[in-house]
Amino acid sequence: MTTEFLSLLCLGLCLSYEDDKENERLSKPSLHAWPSLVAEVKSNVTLKCRAHSQNVTFTLRKVNDSAYQREQSSAGDEAEFPFTDLKPEDAGRYFCAYKTTVSHEWSESSQHVQLVVTDKHNELEAPSMKTVPHVCNPRTAGR
Ligand SMILES: *[C@@H]1O[C@H](CO)[C@@H](O)[C@H](O)[C@H]1NC(C)=O
Ligand SMILES: *[C@@H]1O[C@H](CO)[C@@H](O)[C@H](O)[C@H]1NC(C)=O
Ligand SMILES: *[C@@H]1O[C@H](CO)[C@@H](O)[C@H](O)[C@H]1NC(C)=O
Repeated sequence: MTTEFLSLLCLGLCLSYEDDKENERLSKPSLHAWPSLVAEVKSNVTLKCRAHSQNVTFTLRKVNDSAYQREQSSAGDEAEFPFTDLKPEDAGRYFCAYKTTVSHEWSESSQHVQLVVTDKHNELEAPSMKTVPHVCNPRTAGR
């Protein structure tokens, strides 16, 4: 073995040791929608978050809506966040994270999933932007 090889070997080992220390943070969970990410108004959808450990507390968050937060504890490695009677404002991008009884911080966030809420009636009647009804915003109308 040449000294060059040995120093490369050392470099590799030292780097992977550093990586292990970095990875103490819980790895990211996965988020899925059941039965589908595209759902009609008034129908039901469940977002399922799955972790890599058991006995965890899950949280579901919504992108750009810091007030939105649901939490659920599970003895298993999965939590279900049901949405019933879907409303148009339920649409958006969601992600989840989890923590264990010993971890003090949330895991890495899952990938974002985009929930699309369709209005079947509008979709059939107004496939183009031209026919989107003009909406009067009550919050600005009185100004
Ligand atoms: C949605 O869930 C609610 C409550 O569980 C149930 O009563 C309703 O029948 C469901 N609707 C559909 C379309 O499955
Ligand atoms: C989960 O937690 C309960 C009580 O907190 C404990 O009895 C059980 O052994 C734990 N299960 C696992 C898989 O750690
Ligand atoms: C969400 O937030 C990001 C970054 O803060 C911004 O770029 C984006 O336009 C926002 N989206 C909506 C729909 O508000």
